[in-house]
Amino acid sequence: MCGIVGGIGKEHLKDVLIGGLKDLDYRGYDSAGIALVNESKINLYRAVGTISHLEEKLPQEDDYFMGIAHTRWATHGVPSVKNCHPVASYNKKVYLVHNGVIENYLELKSSLLKSGYSFRGDTDSEVVATLIEKYSKSYKNRLKAITKAMNALVGSFALIIIFEDDLNTLYTAKRSSPMILGEGDGFNLIASDAVPIIKYTDKLIELNDDQLAVVKKDSINIYDMDLDEVSKIYTHKDPELLQKDLNGYPHFMLKEIEEIESVVRKLMLTYYQEGSFTFDEEMIKAIKRADHIIFIACGTSYHASLVGARYFRHVGKEASVYIASEWAFYPVFPGRRPLVIMLSQSGETADLIHCLKTVTENDVRSIVVTNTKGSTLERGCDFSILLNAGLEVSVASTKAYVAQVTALALLTNTLQNRRKIVKDLDKCCQIISYIRNNVKERIEEMANELKDKKDVFFLGRGYDYDFSLEASLKLKEISYIHSEAIAGGELKHGPIALIEKGTPVIVFVTDDVTASSMRGNIQEVKARGADVYVISTKSLSQEGDFIVIEDYDRYLSSVAISSIAFYFAYYVSLFKGLNVDKPRNLAKAVTVE
Ligand code: G6P
Repeated sequence: MCGIVGGIGKEHLKDVLIGGLKDLDYRGYDSAGIALVNESKINLYRAVGTISHLEEKLPQEDDYFMGIAHTRWATHGVPSVKNCHPVASYNKKVYLVHNGVIENYLELKSSLLKSGYSFRGDTDSEVVATLIEKYSKSYKNRLKAITKAMNALVGSFALIIIFEDDLNTLYTAKRSSPMILGEGDGFNLIASDAVPIIKYTDKLIELNDDQLAVVKKDSINIYDMDLDEVSKIYTHKDPELLQKDLNGYPHFMLKEIEEIESVVRKLMLTYYQEGSFTFDEEMIKAIKRADHIIFIACGTSYHASLVGARYFRHVGKEASVYIASEWAFYPVFPGRRPLVIMLSQSGETADLIHCLKTVTENDVRSIVVTNTKGSTLERGCDFSILLNAGLEVSVASTKAYVAQVTALALLTNTLQNRRKIVKDLDKCCQIISYIRNNVKERIEEMANELKDKKDVFFLGRGYDYDFSLEASLKLKEISYIHSEAIAGGELKHGPIALIEKGTPVIVFVTDDVTASSMRGNIQEVKARGADVYVISTKSLSQEGDFIVIEDYDRYLSSVAISSIAFYFAYYVSLFKGLNVDKPRNLAKAVTVE
């Protein structure tokens, strides 16, 4: 799961490519590398760590004609210089950067080893480079050599390739990993997404699966696997993609939490105008026709799906929720007329792309709820609901989660033309603003008290349980504290064994249906010595609760009070001196299965 960028003919190419890597580091950031070409020479620079480590190794001059660069999130082989990209083939005839995973690389590697090739690193990508080198011996036509290699590969890949004896051309090819080309005036760029390109040209072309492109300074030619040329189709990307600006905030996560209120308001204005809901009518018909809604998602989006499924059940539709990487292996289509809803802020999550293939093969209609217009899922699903939340840079998702829940609340209320949602969401916005202005200090206090704990438990029932799952995930993602969310009723079926004197337990009591049972659970953990922090709403509050918020309609818990948990995770990470926006081992878009 990596980010790749390439360019030819562009002035200050080294800076353009390094800037591109920084734009793409949400895809991984454990090592990076760049190959810069000038005067018939390929200069290779690679470094473990962030892109700044690579920058330290680079020369001052910036008059290169062509180059390829890569930011890595290790899948095969530890982060080390020998495993950094660009990788070279055995005889250094082929250099390439790769995003994706080659599932049969061990098989291919052993057959190449038998033919006398050897390898410097442990990556699947080096196997691809050497395979292309091998085919280049038999096929003078380089495109033919690449397609021969592609035919042998099982898995996903986006590649940018340089042949050592043709330093005027970049070759690129892809299958199941994204690749965008940018056509400029006297230059061309290639990248894993549009962000590194769109500042230099808005003439964007998305490469389809099993297509290849020959990219020269003044031309881009695209071919299919039979090497027939295909016409270029230009695509539009949202200029909001460019907004990667801290606006004075110390971290993107804090900035993005503080944007939640405006994101909710924007969604209301987008999907409810002049007294009417504005979702695509064909999509609403498809939902009404369906007798079972199948949610498929990963991570934070999975947690938003749990809330969404409750909303659908509330309006009388059967709904189930699946983790994408599980459903991919055991797909089920409950009901007679199922409809799939995929939630994905990036629209690029590989597990979901895998699932979408199965959904499409089974002729089941699909909707994606996404923050990324033009993403693979947005293009692949029958309908899309855009979140318009603006670019989310912090790896830990905050505003996109709230946007997903808000969009699903608006959607399900549309089915019953229930306009009260607008008032309910307005109330949430007031609460979000109150938390931002009046509760942050209290949350900081809690973060300070808990920052050195080994474990933190979250408890909730009903809507509060769905939200506890997300609160717990957020904390572990960026603070590295072990955390679990427990449904109140499940406590006595096992987890209570872990509660001892001083164990921190954060409890949400905002769901009036479940509140009195939660109070019982609070007594249970207190009796075992837990340090309990209760977050409640006014009408459900009791003396001693740590934070009390104005009442709101319980179904909007994940909208109204999510910022409490997000600020909490943020401050814990900050006080521990960790990298809030870029936690270890994680990436913003997980483009490998
Ligand atoms: C990664 C991110 C998570 C995200 C998950 C699903 O793990 O770090 O924040 O929830 O992918 O991503 P998606 O783009 O499909 O919502």
